[in-house]
Amino acid sequence: MRLWEKGISIDQKILAFTVGEDPRLDQALIVYDCRASKAHARMLGAAGILTGEEVDALCRVLEEIAALAREGRFSIDTVHEDVHTAIEHYLTQKLGDTGKKIHTARSRNDQVVTALRLFYRDRLWGVEKRMQGFLKGLAEFSQRYGETPLPGYSHTRKAMPTTIKVWVGAFQAALEDDLFLLQALQSLLDRCPAGTGAGYGVPLAVDREFLARELGFSRIQENPLHVQNSRGPLEGNLLHLLSNIQLTLNRLAGDLIFFTLPELGFFELPEALTTGSSIMPQKKNPDVLELIRGYAHRLLSLEMEVRTLSTNLISGYHRDLQLTKGPVLQAFPIVEQSLEVMAHLCQNLRVRPENCRRAMTPELYATEQVYRLVKQGIPFREAYRRIAQQFREEPET
Ligand code: ARG
Repeated sequence: MRLWEKGISIDQKILAFTVGEDPRLDQALIVYDCRASKAHARMLGAAGILTGEEVDALCRVLEEIAALAREGRFSIDTVHEDVHTAIEHYLTQKLGDTGKKIHTARSRNDQVVTALRLFYRDRLWGVEKRMQGFLKGLAEFSQRYGETPLPGYSHTRKAMPTTIKVWVGAFQAALEDDLFLLQALQSLLDRCPAGTGAGYGVPLAVDREFLARELGFSRIQENPLHVQNSRGPLEGNLLHLLSNIQLTLNRLAGDLIFFTLPELGFFELPEALTTGSSIMPQKKNPDVLELIRGYAHRLLSLEMEVRTLSTNLISGYHRDLQLTKGPVLQAFPIVEQSLEVMAHLCQNLRVRPENCRRAMTPELYATEQVYRLVKQGIPFREAYRRIAQQFREEPET
């Protein structure tokens, strides 16, 4: 049965179309909806709308549902539309009228936003943990190999001398920037949307502070309409953060593919981390890095999909917003896995200091030579010209 069932039978084609991917995608939200529903039941109990026994019974069955979900045994059928209705249906089957009371003072629209926010909060915390772990690995790498010289490149041509410490430091700094964005997102997420109904409140006194406390939010998201309007933009910001992280990894992957090029050989990937070719027996390919690099494009397209979905909508809920769920659910595992795989790879990367040193050829020091002359009082442009002479191409004879 659907939540909005009013006795009129709905066209099955329309039902299947509107439900779309929700039964599959919503599997990830079951435990979060249970957590939010328990808080909601307790709030209704504290307000005297439910009795103590009713609250206990609802919480007991909600825990049962969460346990089933953890074992992958709670199914969401198309006929139930989504996780929210499936849970209410289960509660009603088990508890009769008590189950039918859980939807007092709420709407599916604030339910979905609340469950999603709890889910995002957990996953973002997981991303942060992986980033911290990776940063620790990079710091160790820098500690070990930092002093090794490395040619610095621009335009994929040798530019000036640098060190592994500076090169790794650039990625540590980029990840710190990403963490700064992540923490801003955590702060945006740390506002409880529950108790705002479909965007216009509910005609009952809802203790929103109670719900926020129960669900571990430090404050409430004040404006009820903004709760609905922020579905979409919030997901867009989340995906912006995730694509930024993947773009940091994209550049690192590019550098590693280049630096492990056998012709340069600054670094080497252990064979176990490379892949072979079906025809060329000598090949040790950096497929893993290529995929990390490639996934940045997918992340950007997911971000764009979500950003454009929430444009041109008037205030309030629209079913378009259901389509923002898939891209976010798709993006998290890509970024989580990429961070894990990249950290593993960097931990096993072999540095070849002798190849790095051999690559420190004279042209890298041209700018330094110019400045040696500048320090002797020669005007910069004159010094530049003099040194440039040394690097002039031999005229063809
Ligand atoms: N599954 C829906 C979504 O993700 C839940 C909200 C449906 N609400 C509605 N009024 N049709 O958006």
